[in-house]
Amino acid sequence: MCLSIEVNDMATAVYPGSFDPVTLGHMDIIERTARMFDHVIIGVLQNNSKTPLFSVEERVNMIKSITSHLENIEVRSFDGLLVDFVHQCRADVIVRGLRAITDFEYELQMAQTNRVIAPEIDTIFLTTNLKYSYLSSSIVKEIAEYEGDISEFLHPVIAARVREKLEERRRLT
Ligand code: PNS
Repeated sequence: MCLSIEVNDMATAVYPGSFDPVTLGHMDIIERTARMFDHVIIGVLQNNSKTPLFSVEERVNMIKSITSHLENIEVRSFDGLLVDFVHQCRADVIVRGLRAITDFEYELQMAQTNRVIAPEIDTIFLTTNLKYSYLSSSIVKEIAEYEGDISEFLHPVIAARVREKLEERRRLT
């Protein structure tokens, strides 16, 4: 007899991140996670230690605007420990994307720390689509700041919001 555990047995997963802004690399992970789990909660970190380009409300709304075609996705903000948020969501799986070996050390440290403080929560990693393996929100913001073309990296709605936001900032300085 062969016993197998279906990923679908784990009904709710949390996909956390800063998403400042959400990229096509993130969207690829969101869409794939949505196919694997009954319910996916995207947790947007209200990160006070970094100065984000977008407020947490803006980041949440931007993700909502491009994930409305996915019925099992919910977008929420969170502050504090990720494992506490996962408990509040009644989930027991964290999903993270792995782009390259350079991500691995940080991701492993985070997953192992989370597992020590909350052993009932597991982290699973999805390898990022090769097409987006180099992509990060910080690089996209840098390109946009120098008025480079960001349309290859972001959903058109998000690319427009980034351009607007940088324009707004330029006007204010
Ligand atoms: O998109 P990011 O910035 O790589 O996401 C990092 C995130 C939000 C997953 C991480 O910073 C996080 O979980 N922060 C919450 C605070 C926390 O739980 N820290 C302990 C984890 S080791």
